[in-house]
Amino acid sequence: MTSSPAVPAFTLTRPQGAPLGPPPLYSEIRAKHPISRVSLWEGRLSPWLVTRWEDTRTVLGSPAFSTDPTRPGAPTFKEDTPQSPRGFFASHDDPMHAAMRRTLTREFMVKRVNELRPAIARLTDELLTDLTRLSGPADFVEHFALPLPSLVICELLGVPYEDHTFFQEHSKAIVDFNATAQETRQAFASLAEYLLALVGTKRTKPGNDVVTRLAAQADEGVITDQDAADLSAFLLFAGHETTANMIALSTIALLNHPDQIPHILGGEGQVASAVEELLRYLSIVHGGLRRTAVEDVTIGGVTIRAGEGVIVPVHVANRDPEFFTDPDDLDPGRANARQHLAFGYGIHQCLGQPLARAELQIVLPEVFRRLPELKIAVPMDEVAFKQDTIVYGVVELPVTW
Ligand code: HEM
Repeated sequence: MTSSPAVPAFTLTRPQGAPLGPPPLYSEIRAKHPISRVSLWEGRLSPWLVTRWEDTRTVLGSPAFSTDPTRPGAPTFKEDTPQSPRGFFASHDDPMHAAMRRTLTREFMVKRVNELRPAIARLTDELLTDLTRLSGPADFVEHFALPLPSLVICELLGVPYEDHTFFQEHSKAIVDFNATAQETRQAFASLAEYLLALVGTKRTKPGNDVVTRLAAQADEGVITDQDAADLSAFLLFAGHETTANMIALSTIALLNHPDQIPHILGGEGQVASAVEELLRYLSIVHGGLRRTAVEDVTIGGVTIRAGEGVIVPVHVANRDPEFFTDPDDLDPGRANARQHLAFGYGIHQCLGQPLARAELQIVLPEVFRRLPELKIAVPMDEVAFKQDTIVYGVVELPVTW
């Protein structure tokens, strides 16, 4: 197979008329040259773009690729991306990645996540009650989709109730689309300081929470206190905006497909498969997972040389017609929906996926049960989508109910 002669710029912008689907350019690329070059940084770098479902799994499952953003040739969003602390283990390779990930794996086992279900249901109920007390229209993102995962993370980490407001305000500033770089840095510094202090507090006032258990691992010498704070901050980052955007976009997708709403209200099994289909259909991590080859490797007939970058847009793989029949349809009964790559694949596959699933499975039925008259209060073409952020979503979503 040959690569495409023209090198298009890598774009995130989804089409105006079909804002829940990937840019059409990538379907054309997948059909003609499924592994071909795209350009980044105004043409200064030309990594490979991998667009088929099968090739995507091969790249993400292969030890021939690194996630370290400081490797020469790494196709990072911004040139000269610095290395993150080791607690942000998504940008480290094994063995460092595995050592850090291991400190948290038990936290996301299904049994532990199930223990959080009553708290998720309670928080959902409280937020929806507060929302319905407002006189509409109100912003669904501000009043529901964003605070819900933020409060769940507080519960998970063991942030004391009296600190909720401080914690939530700073978390919001970190993921705020409109915040300046300076505001984001400041919010992050305040949270990092707070989390480091919380690690200390948990030694005298332990709880049944992640920070208490990370503090215990620091006492055993497995990690440092700074690692414990960084790992907590990373969970906040990784699990906050993703889930918030999934809640808001799933709500839009279901309002645009009202015939599918009964699936979401249809009991455990149906909800679970509808959630998988929404994860596939929306594939919110649309910045592409970024890798660099550490050795020469041939995939789909194309040889990728050591040092070359690869962008893997999972939202494109998840619409591959060779794997998903009629991929642009939202079909809650789709038999192979669960094989979507919305949580990635391989050693970096989303650690928080059981929690994200639990949140979506609890929240979405409750939204449509409690707000049967829910409507978007503006025409669809006036909804402001987050076009140029790594994680796709909406800036705000005015609704009535
Ligand atoms: C619907 C919501 C979510 C989506 C779509 C999502 C998606 C992803 C994806 C695609 C990756 C792989 C990145 C890569 O391979 O480069 C990832 C990794 C990760 N996610 Fe999620 N995520 C979600 C929610 C969460 C939640 C709730 C948490 C935790 C509270 C979380 C924690 C993580 C962590 C720690 C990693 C890094 C894993 C590693 O590098 O080993 N995510 N996520």
